[in-house]
Amino acid sequence: MKIETQTYQARRERLMQSLPENSVVVIRTGELSTRNNDCEYEFRPHSSFFYLTGFPEPSAYAIIRAGGEMTLVTLPKDPEKEQWEGFRFGSEGAMQSFGATDALDLDGLDDALFSALDGTTNVAYLFDDGVLREKVADCRDKLSARARAGAVAPTSFIDAGPIIAEMRLIKDKEEIAIMEAAAQISVEAHKQAMKSVRPGMMEYQLEAELNYVFMKSGARQPAYNNIVASGSNACVLHYIKNDEPIEDGDLILIDAGAELGCYAADITRTFPANGKFSEPQAALYQVVLDAYHAGMKKLVVGAPYEAFHNAAVRTLTEGLVTHGLLSGDVDLLIESKAYRDFYMHNTGHWLGLDVHDCGAYKVAGESRLLEEGMVLTIEPGLYVSADNESVDEKWRGIGIRIEDDVLIRAEGPYVLTHGLAKEIADIEALMAQD
Ligand code: GLY
Ligand code: MN
Ligand code: MN
Repeated sequence: MKIETQTYQARRERLMQSLPENSVVVIRTGELSTRNNDCEYEFRPHSSFFYLTGFPEPSAYAIIRAGGEMTLVTLPKDPEKEQWEGFRFGSEGAMQSFGATDALDLDGLDDALFSALDGTTNVAYLFDDGVLREKVADCRDKLSARARAGAVAPTSFIDAGPIIAEMRLIKDKEEIAIMEAAAQISVEAHKQAMKSVRPGMMEYQLEAELNYVFMKSGARQPAYNNIVASGSNACVLHYIKNDEPIEDGDLILIDAGAELGCYAADITRTFPANGKFSEPQAALYQVVLDAYHAGMKKLVVGAPYEAFHNAAVRTLTEGLVTHGLLSGDVDLLIESKAYRDFYMHNTGHWLGLDVHDCGAYKVAGESRLLEEGMVLTIEPGLYVSADNESVDEKWRGIGIRIEDDVLIRAEGPYVLTHGLAKEIADIEALMAQD
């Protein structure tokens, strides 16, 4: 499953159309990063650079001009290095395989920038990229110093970040297909974990089941660090130590998603280690599930982004009152944010190349309206700290989250992570299978 070269070309064209006349975009990917001594982390391209180029190697730059024409600046071909580290596309490969109009080796970057920016009025780049900021500023200074020799420095600098973010927010068909594939690999991984858990296992042994399914399905990396949290570890929202034993009677919260073609999936399920929810576990689980369903009803074209969170918060607060964890008037409890002792995160986020993907949540100070092609997570939860003495002991240490990935469509929400049990009876039935 691969995004076509023409799609990247079309994205570059659209980007240039949203900039004023006589603009150039400069963007770069990341560098290899050292883990220790001479060992490096596996490289993963910068998301926006990848979105516009599809180029997978480190240390590359793209200079994009009107019509989406692109100069790719890449690591040079180097037979000796390639013998040790593997294939590089080099400049010829960059043109043949990525639709670059022209391409050159990295040592030509400064000259290429100089000629691209000479006489260009507007330079767009990512303002939050300090290296790029410095490169563009140096180049501007050099052009300005050569004014008497006829060089013309740019006069206007534009942050390409929010423009690219708006493009990335609406997913095209190819992206949706990859995201559904990443989601379905993740569904299989969660099923495998639910079926193989046994009290007495270590959390990392369960994590291994997830990684096994990810890898054998072609998703070499998770989209973020796997969370495998048993018992009260589930109350630590980003628990990634995953090194404790799983006890009989624990709930286990797994938040894990595969990355495929640089696109993220993001799923959470919570299930009992011994295959059967206890009464208090089932009671709070049902509240979170009801909040999930209440939120899902608001994931429709034209609804304000904040509506699904507000619906989930109302249902969670009502449930907390019903079960005696909070007391008082639901409206007042929501207004005073009393639920935040038990629910301290939002009910979702944009999802795409980044797990917490780009795109504004508000437009002109107002919650933005949902549109076709947006993908977001829905992830209500409840977390009762083990030392919360304001609630009955039976609730303490219970942490629950249910999370799916949803595509907004005219005909209603489409759950990309479909097919994974979340009703209590369905989870218990899945876990009873060998
Ligand atoms: N896995 C991170 C999140 O759910 O936002
Ligand atoms: Mn999430
Ligand atoms: Mn998650």
